[in-house]
Amino acid sequence: MEKTIDQIRDDALSEIEAAATPDDINALSVRYLGRKGAITRYLRNISGLPADQRPEAGQKANQTKKLLEGLFDERLEALAGRTDSDSRIDVSLPGRAQAPGMLHPVTRISREICEIFAGLGFDIAEGPEVELDFYNFEALNIPKNHPARDMQDTFYVSDNIVLRTHTSPIQIRTMEKQKPPVRVVAPGKVYRCDSDLTHTPMFHQIEGLLVDKNISFGDLKGILTTVVHRIFDEKTSLRFRPSFFPFTEPSAEVDILCVICRGKGCRVCSHTGWLEILGSGMVDPAVFDNVEYDKDKYTGFAFGMGMERIAMLKYGIDDIRKFFENDYRFLRQF
Ligand code: PHE
Repeated sequence: MEKTIDQIRDDALSEIEAAATPDDINALSVRYLGRKGAITRYLRNISGLPADQRPEAGQKANQTKKLLEGLFDERLEALAGRTDSDSRIDVSLPGRAQAPGMLHPVTRISREICEIFAGLGFDIAEGPEVELDFYNFEALNIPKNHPARDMQDTFYVSDNIVLRTHTSPIQIRTMEKQKPPVRVVAPGKVYRCDSDLTHTPMFHQIEGLLVDKNISFGDLKGILTTVVHRIFDEKTSLRFRPSFFPFTEPSAEVDILCVICRGKGCRVCSHTGWLEILGSGMVDPAVFDNVEYDKDKYTGFAFGMGMERIAMLKYGIDDIRKFFENDYRFLRQF
C-alpha cells in the first residue's frame, strides 16, 4: 500500500481547500471516492492486511470516507452559482457610482408652467406633431399662399401635411371638440426650418386658450402677468408690445426686463434692455367663425410661449443647442 489513510485524508483536505469551482469539487470526489478513487482502492486493499490490523484500518477508512463525503457536499453548496470569473473579483477596485436619472430642463420648465396654469383652472390639451395644413394654418386665418405664412419656415410633409410650426393648431382642435367656456394649455414640440444660436429645428412651446363671455384684454394681461411672476419672480417687469398674428386681434408680444443687464442693455437683449418671451392676443372673430363659436357671444385670448427661451433666461444658458446635444455634464446641472 503506497499511502496511509492519514496521508490520503490530508491530501484530500488541502485539495478541497484549494478548489474554486463546483467542477473542481466534482473532479476531486471522483478521484477520492469514485470506483477507482484513492479511498475505494484503500478499502479494497484492506483484505491484504494482517488480520489484527484489518478492523482498525477499515474503521478509519470508513470514517475518512464519511468525512470527505460531507466536505464535498458542503463545498459544493457554498460554491453553487459561482462561476469562474466571480472567484476573481478584485475587491480593491473603487465602487461604481450610481448616476441617478433627472428630468431634462425643458421637461422641468414645461411641468412647472403647466402646474402654474393648472392652479389657475386650466386643463392640459395635446395635439399631433404631424399636422394638417388646415389646423396649422387655414383654420387660424392663414390662407394658402398668404404672405403671413412667411412668418414661419415650414417643413412640408406633403401639400396638405406639415410638421406643426406652433402649438396653435391645438386651439382649433380644442374648440372643435368642446363648447365654450374653454380654458386649456397645450405644451409640445414644434418644428421650423431654422438653426442658429437661438433657434433649433425642433423646439417646445406652450399654447394657452381661454374663451368665455366677457373676456377682455385685461384678463389676458392679468393672467400672463401672474404667470410670468410665478415663473421668474414677483419683481420681474414686463411690457406688452403691439404686434401682429393672423389669428389674434389685437395682438401683443410680451417682453420681460433683461435678466442679465436688468434693462441697461447688453448682448443678450441686443441692447434693448428687454427680452421677448411670448406672443398673444384676443382670438380673432374669423377663428371663431371657423370653429362655429358665436363671435357675438364669446370673446377670448390666446398665447404661445417658447419653453427653451424661458429655460435659457431662468438658468442663464446662452446657446439653445445645448439642450439637444445630450451632454450629460450640461444636463446634470439642473
Ligand atoms: N403661435 C404663435 C407663434 O408661434 C404665438 C401665438 C400664439 C400668438 C397664440 C398669439 C396667440 O409665434
